[in-house]
Amino acid sequence: VSQVAVTQTAASAAGFAVELHGAGQVGGALLPLLRANGIPVAAIHRRRGSERHAVDARRTVLVDATPPCYHGPDAAAWTDQLAQVLAAGSDVVTCNKAPLATAWAKLRQAARQGGGRLLATATVGGGTPVLPTLRAFQRHAPVQSIEATLSGTLGVVLARVKRGATLADATRQAQAARLCEPDPSLDLDGTDAWAKACILHNALWPEERPLGLADRAAPLSLREDEVRALHAPAVVALIRSGSVDVGLRDWPHLGGLAVHASSTAGTLNLSGPGAGPAATAAALLADLQALAAGAPGIL
Ligand SMILES: NC(=O)c1ccc[n+]([C@@H]2O[C@H](COP(=O)([O-])OP(=O)(O)OC[C@H]3O[C@@H](n4cnc5c(N)ncnc54)[C@H](OP(=O)(O)O)[C@@H]3O)[C@@H](O)[C@H]2O)c1
Repeated sequence: VSQVAVTQTAASAAGFAVELHGAGQVGGALLPLLRANGIPVAAIHRRRGSERHAVDARRTVLVDATPPCYHGPDAAAWTDQLAQVLAAGSDVVTCNKAPLATAWAKLRQAARQGGGRLLATATVGGGTPVLPTLRAFQRHAPVQSIEATLSGTLGVVLARVKRGATLADATRQAQAARLCEPDPSLDLDGTDAWAKACILHNALWPEERPLGLADRAAPLSLREDEVRALHAPAVVALIRSGSVDVGLRDWPHLGGLAVHASSTAGTLNLSGPGAGPAATAAALLADLQALAAGAPGIL
């Protein structure tokens, strides 16, 4: 990785500078938001190289906007790097689900050991703040169960298949509309939805063993005839303390992202358009501002 030194001095209104990893659709949308909000950028790391900026800030916050890597040495190396940052007492803001869905316990141990905070609002729902809203609801009254459609991409793909498109054509259309993950198979086989469900589970029930991708019995295997046989097909996550299940079901609610949480005090219904680069970047900015205001992490 080449290092290009860029000289730029900026004082940080937030008290920190951002170390941005990944400057694609989401990271690229975040950069102007940081500029507009007086948060300097100490470095931008891309696959093809890094650039460093001279900034006037006492500390940095790592922002992870890299593609999700669930398996192999790259996944382990990236998780180790995040754990080291947290163990050193630095904070992390992320929209990357993979480290949270594969190594929650390790990241939590590092955060507790070193005091680093991690916020991940952008990993679930993009511009719809599912995670902070459910955590606030949980503080009010114990949540008993959550039923949710967590993949806007699958919502669009299944609606098109129901209307007669093949899965391959519906996926190509979703990709062209930039709705899919960098690797669309992660949407189609349910990995993305499973990861989001586990993040919700682990953040809401910290006393339970953290759940992750290794707890999934098998990837989702969508079939066009099964999708068309349902009245309103959706991939639905059912989440309770200690268990996560993600599968194809009839879903009587409106399309897009929808979350129904039941607690001893009543029901919370949340819906929104789901993610997209601009909404996801806005959620990253909101987490950075929450850290500046002293918010605790979710681990
Ligand atoms: N797009 C969305 O609407 C959306 C919504 C919610 C969450 N997310 C999540 O946001 C993250 C980023 O998505 P995206 O759509 O912005 O992806 P993207 O457009 O493919 O951009 C990925 C960026 O990460 C860089 N990168 C790749 N590997 C890297 C590495 N090992 N170290 C440092 N940088 C690396 C790439 O560098 P190069 O430019 O050199 O290739 C690129 O700048 C993903 O985790 C995704 O799941 C995306």
